[in-house]
Amino acid sequence: MTKYFPCLLLTLLMVFTQTFLVTGEGPAFLKSVKRNPMKTRTEKLSHFRFYWHDILSGPNPTAMKIIPPSANNKTAATAFGQVNMIDDPLTEKPEAGSKLLGRAQGFYGLASQEEVGLIMAMNFAFTTGKYNGSTLTVLGRNAVFEKVREMPVIGGSGVFRFTRGYVKASTHSFDNKTGNAVVEYNVHVLHF
Ligand SMILES: *[C@@H]1O[C@H](CO)[C@@H](O)[C@H](O)[C@H]1NC(C)=O
Ligand SMILES: *[C@@H]1O[C@H](CO)[C@@H](O)[C@H](O)[C@H]1NC(C)=O
Ligand SMILES: *[C@@H]1O[C@H](CO)[C@@H](O)[C@H](O)[C@H]1NC(C)=O
Repeated sequence: MTKYFPCLLLTLLMVFTQTFLVTGEGPAFLKSVKRNPMKTRTEKLSHFRFYWHDILSGPNPTAMKIIPPSANNKTAATAFGQVNMIDDPLTEKPEAGSKLLGRAQGFYGLASQEEVGLIMAMNFAFTTGKYNGSTLTVLGRNAVFEKVREMPVIGGSGVFRFTRGYVKASTHSFDNKTGNAVVEYNVHVLHF
């Protein structure tokens, strides 16, 4: 016990100093919040499954190319450099007409010179039930021809404040003529 005493004292001193700096002498723009509103609730793990429809063709596309790929023909097969903006429906079942749960809004860029590898940055904006108006933010790497791709959920809003988690994406169908794809998303998130 005596061996650890100096360590303990130092830790206490550091905690005390930090608390003092933040709450006491801190600048006006920075304040610690004394009563954490999340503290009274316990964190839970939720699992969602839905289908993401990326439609590039037809009269009502939900994805559009906003930056063309690099003109360098060495990377033509991977479309390196291309960026698409998306407003993709999220549905309960793989069929396009099934119940709409929300939309995936954001963009993906073709970020690999060796394969079709995306960087995805999108918000799942939910429009149903208690999730109506809440969002989850996904930012990650998506090598689309791999069977299962994992990407981090880096945050959220509404009921998903302070969220963290991951998604697993697997292609349900892909039309190699139009580029249209339906992808199954399995989402695991910790939230309050
Ligand atoms: C790539 O581009 C170069 C220069 O424009 C051209 O000479 C070459 O034939 C092209 N290669 C392919 C595979 O298209
Ligand atoms: C979701 O919220 C919006 C805005 O508050 C509201 O107009 C809409 O009716 C709600 N939808 C559902 C299904 O609750
Ligand atoms: C598209 O898919 C069809 C059937 O699955 C296949 O025969 C064809 O080679 C594919 N085309 C390309 C360009 O990959």
